[in-house]
Amino acid sequence: MGLKNKPNYEGTFIVFEGPNGCGTTTHWGRAADYLREEGLEVVQTREPGGTIAGKKLRALLLESDIKFAPRTEYFLFSASRAHNVEQNIIPGLKAGKIILCDRYFTSSTVFQGYAGNEEVVKKIKKINSFATFGVQPDLRFILNIDYKKAQKRLKKIKEEREEGDNFEERDQEFQRKVSKAYKDLTQKLPNTIGLDSTDPKETNARKIRKELQKLIPGLGS
Ligand code: TYD
Repeated sequence: MGLKNKPNYEGTFIVFEGPNGCGTTTHWGRAADYLREEGLEVVQTREPGGTIAGKKLRALLLESDIKFAPRTEYFLFSASRAHNVEQNIIPGLKAGKIILCDRYFTSSTVFQGYAGNEEVVKKIKKINSFATFGVQPDLRFILNIDYKKAQKRLKKIKEEREEGDNFEERDQEFQRKVSKAYKDLTQKLPNTIGLDSTDPKETNARKIRKELQKLIPGLGS
């Protein structure tokens, strides 16, 4: 594997990313189950919402009627992220644990930047590092999905639980930009594995397990 997370903590930091409806949460959960079955200590966290304060920010961002401009939205997501890094991620990495995070700063680059306001992408990329205490993932999975296919999935999910969150409700053009940005970033970001979210779940789970085995010494041997 290329870069080690910075600063160089003992533990391993893995994140799951992709457009709405791509299945980050499923694979984040399955990866955690697999690692625990193998006897490893895992911390599962998510953004927004990985801490008590983060849960309040999550409700504000995803469920309230307040419409924020992309810049404000960015700082709210980042506040949740900074708190999560401080409270969960750094202590876990220092203790040598494996941290699995459902979404991290690439979500901000994509949703608030490329899809929200392209003019702030450069700034977001610059301050992401400040907002995260410089903690970079050792491995990032991106589950790519075309926005039209994602829309179909989301429609089904929405019918089941009756309504979507603020980001799922955004227009097709927003979702198209999100899908495109993730696809482009899959080629550009370090330590990144791209997966096709429309492949069978089991195929992707297997690919993820293989990548984990490459990264974590002794795993799967
Ligand atoms: P969630 O239900 O956790 O997403 P998922 O679709 O993975 O189940 O909702 C998180 C939403 O917040 C998702 O639409 C992406 C968005 N988001 C941002 O816009 N910026 C961010 O920095 C993060 C972490 C999430």
